Amino acid sequence: MEYKIGNEKKLKDHMENLLKAFSSDMEKVGNIAELENVRIIYLGKKSFVSTILRSMGSLPRTMKPVVGKNVNLFRIEIEKNINLKEKELKSIEYEQKLKKEVIDLSLPGRCNTAGSKNILTQVVEEIEDIFIGMGFEVAEGPEVETDYYNFEALNTPEDHPARSLHDTFFVGGGMLLRTQTSPVQIRYMEKNRPPIAIISPGRTYRKDYDVSHTPMFTQIEGLVVDREINFGNLKWTLEVFLREIFGNDRKVRFRPHFFPFTEPSAEVDVSCNICNGAGCRVCKGSGWLEILGAGMVDPNLYSFVGYDPGEYSGFAFGVGIERICMLKYGIDDLRIFFENDLRFLKQF
Ligand code: DAH
Repeated sequence: MEYKIGNEKKLKDHMENLLKAFSSDMEKVGNIAELENVRIIYLGKKSFVSTILRSMGSLPRTMKPVVGKNVNLFRIEIEKNINLKEKELKSIEYEQKLKKEVIDLSLPGRCNTAGSKNILTQVVEEIEDIFIGMGFEVAEGPEVETDYYNFEALNTPEDHPARSLHDTFFVGGGMLLRTQTSPVQIRYMEKNRPPIAIISPGRTYRKDYDVSHTPMFTQIEGLVVDREINFGNLKWTLEVFLREIFGNDRKVRFRPHFFPFTEPSAEVDVSCNICNGAGCRVCKGSGWLEILGAGMVDPNLYSFVGYDPGEYSGFAFGVGIERICMLKYGIDDLRIFFENDLRFLKQF
């Protein structure tokens, strides 16, 4: 709206029109940026107010006070409205910001689930503790073995019928995946002299897969060699071990058996922990659970490691850890240990 200086009436009319335009502009303002544009139009350098106040010097003397007073009132009115609007917009923006940043305390937190030890590891550690308490050391051996340590030096030569019971994985280069933890016996005796009392936990491998067999499974081997070790020592050691694992009121029995590396050999049963020996589905009505193999170290083994069989004697045993877990926790399928089903694993 161009304005040419005229009389007071003309000035007032012009300002009235400007105020109307200002009001309608203000109604359309929705945010601070738009308000700033309006402020520039009505109060900025090129606005009516600035232009006329700048030209005061050249006004006729009589008009000066008239223009000064009216234009200032006009400016104050505009400023007042803009300031009010600004306050209003800022408080709206603030409210919106608060709403956006609100923290919903009723939301459940994100929890970091920690992993845990597999039940097999837990049971291995429990068994290690029992034997360490009896003065045993823990020894380890490789899972990829030679025929010599896995069979030959364990009194199981090439043509021995016991070999066919081990469905062996051969990996080439004369190497195989150990079918038992027994080779650790030989490896340990080669490097150490009696007295020896070790257990050796670890993974073992056989080509087998059903409810009670998986291609990979876990064993703990035990070996004690010293002067005057006898079958009574073996019985006592295994009875202590089995009662610690299955409970104090368990009975233990030895049945004659055959293993190439022990003579005599036995299979060891523990009275069923489900029915307490009365006979149930788990023990197939017998009241007994077959738990491990054991025996007196066959003197032949000593010739492989340079011990004098006249001087030393010893006992050995081998336990399947999955079987211990199954009986201890009532698990009826061995394969589940290796399927990584969290619903199963989290129960322990
Ligand atoms: N190595 C045997 C197996 O896997 C278990 C075993 C039996 C180990 C008797 C022994 C033992 O040390 O004396 O079937």
